[in-house]
Amino acid sequence: MNQLKWQSPSNIALVKYWGKKGRQIPQNPSISFTLKNCKTETSVSFEPSDHFDLHFRFDGKENSEFQAKIHKFLLENMDSFPFLKQLDLHINSHNTFPHSSGIASSASSMSALVMCLFDIERTVNGTDGIDLKKASYFSRLASGSACRSLFPKMALWGETPAVKDSSDEYAITLQDRIHPIFKDYHDSILIVSDAKKSVSSRAGHALMNGNPYAESRYAVAKNNIENLLKALETGDLETFIHITESEAMQLHALMMCSNPSYILMKPNTLRIINTLFEFRQETDIPVCFTLDAGPNVHILYPDQHAEMVERFIMDELEQYCVSGQWIPDQVGDGASKC
Ligand code: PMV
Repeated sequence: MNQLKWQSPSNIALVKYWGKKGRQIPQNPSISFTLKNCKTETSVSFEPSDHFDLHFRFDGKENSEFQAKIHKFLLENMDSFPFLKQLDLHINSHNTFPHSSGIASSASSMSALVMCLFDIERTVNGTDGIDLKKASYFSRLASGSACRSLFPKMALWGETPAVKDSSDEYAITLQDRIHPIFKDYHDSILIVSDAKKSVSSRAGHALMNGNPYAESRYAVAKNNIENLLKALETGDLETFIHITESEAMQLHALMMCSNPSYILMKPNTLRIINTLFEFRQETDIPVCFTLDAGPNVHILYPDQHAEMVERFIMDELEQYCVSGQWIPDQVGDGASKC
């Protein structure tokens, strides 16, 4: 039995992907930080068989929900991975972040799985190297934003006139286009609720189809991409903060005016944001927040201010986190073989 193992991190979008068309094609480009500590480790054992068979375990236990999702993805893409038709696959997956942290694991888990698939192909067919564009393409088909997780530091997914090799079909790294200050940026994830998401991202994207603000949202996002790219290049933190926070607010505003509508923030989400604004005003430290499609708050800050901001989190924000839980994370290097 052959065995291989990959790890891939989660990512946090600054300009959000919210709304899609066709086969997981985004309505607007998005930009994300690749994280370091929040990741999925996936090991795959495989042996020749006369038919395809899948056995999936999460943390060593069978998990029918994940098994069904992976099975569906593999069957849909069997023509692209024909070697699977003669393999018996045993997959074991583990997240380094708590299962009940409200952090979506589909980006890290699906991108780790896709890297394992390409590595199996390399082993079975004797090909060399893994084409990250192809891996990003299939990660996108598995779970939209997963396509951004593979790359070091920051990724751009979606076509924009500002970046020649950008594409709606896969992400690319922004590592060589960003100011050094962003290469070790921090993201501390404050867990306001550990409940399962009240609306799945699949349902959330679908709600954009009837949203009266959809077209203007896509135009604003495209503009934010161009301005954020400039700020990332020059290290312009004022613009970075303005766009990042505005994007988080817009994502939640879009959900509030969808039909049906959703309020995804909790009272403690707002307490954290307001306390953060006061701290920034008082100290002039360039710390800001972003949100995913849920109540947890991502606090973003440069490495040089880590000590001050983390003391502030412990003294003033931890009280708003469920069981005082927060996860210190930082920009990382993308997927890698273990
Ligand atoms: O990749 P999905 O389908 O789970 O959608 C991700 C949506 C957001 O996390 C809210 C935004 C983003 O760009 O990651």
